Amino acid sequence: MIVLGIESSCDETACAVVNDKREILSSVVWSQYDEHRRFGGVVPEIAARAHLEKCDLLVREAMDKAGKSFDQLDAVAVAAGPGLIGGVLVGVMTAKAIALCHGLPFVAVNHLEGHALTVRLSSDVQFPYLLLLTSGGHCQALIVKGVGQYEKLGGTIDDSAGEAFDKVAKMLDIGYPGGPNLEKRAKLGDPKKYDFPVPMKGRKGCDFSFSGLKTAVRVAIERQKTLTEQDKNDMCASFQRAVVAEMQDRLKHAISVFKERYPNAKDMVVAGGVAANGAVRQMIQNLADKSDLIFSAPPVGLCTDNGVMIAWAGLERFRLGFRDGFDFRARPRWPLDTSADTRK
Ligand code: KG4
Ligand code: ZN
Repeated sequence: MIVLGIESSCDETACAVVNDKREILSSVVWSQYDEHRRFGGVVPEIAARAHLEKCDLLVREAMDKAGKSFDQLDAVAVAAGPGLIGGVLVGVMTAKAIALCHGLPFVAVNHLEGHALTVRLSSDVQFPYLLLLTSGGHCQALIVKGVGQYEKLGGTIDDSAGEAFDKVAKMLDIGYPGGPNLEKRAKLGDPKKYDFPVPMKGRKGCDFSFSGLKTAVRVAIERQKTLTEQDKNDMCASFQRAVVAEMQDRLKHAISVFKERYPNAKDMVVAGGVAANGAVRQMIQNLADKSDLIFSAPPVGLCTDNGVMIAWAGLERFRLGFRDGFDFRARPRWPLDTSADTRK
């Protein structure tokens, strides 16, 4: 079984071909960093136009690299939301056109489900598993019970962790994209230099908050007349320490709910762009070890947005019989757990 996946929901245009032997036959990602750098963040209209210019070229490249023709595919999958709607539309229309021309089944994939399931391509993770999904748009603790079956234990009540990384990086003027640059700087800084707050520490439940932490960094920057490079590194390290402590505190609660509900389950996973962060991965590895759970995460290169995650989630859906009609509409919002509230 061979599936083509297309991703265009934020600032990466990406295409990949995967098969049901868990092989990545090709993966191409085109990041729009240069388009957005001077604005310090993603500009939706610019993103949509850039996707439009690149999408069909990347499909061609992914198919050529995989050495496959369209009629060798079993299905075409696309991230049909949630995301910046102009970009999502480009991917959805491209995927529908390919499916229609070549008589292939069309599979609409929730971008978040792409993040949630990718780990099953690289590791032997079984349902149900506990998942921290942490990206630019979301921060949620979920129980993944099966393909299409998610229970949200908590979400952020304000910013996502990725947003906080990006905004703090912007305040410190350490370059775009923020998260990876901040992590590099944090390695050179003192994590105890600034005593930034851990917003939800000690509170009940599994919700997250990062906005107060971001404000604390802004206040610390304003208090200092000049910021040396070392000050910046120390702020990065202290900020990252607080983010990790926030996640750790919240996940302890999520683990106890998960273990109570599923005493025989054994897997704990982190996914999404922020899962590329070494300190976040290490903290979750430690938590899992202490809780007798097996830690798994997608390889770092498959944490930030890519086509493989959409092709793989599409394949997982397709082999269970999920198909979508050509009347499927791109969705700017699309929660994984439709019974939960709308927190990110
Ligand atoms: O999953 P993703 O590529 O896009 C969304 O679905 O939102 O996540 C992007 C987010 C950005 O906020 C980026 O700064 C963050 O992931 N990120 C990181 C790292 N790499 C990417 N944050 C912290 N450390 C990293 N190494
Ligand atoms: Zn993403």
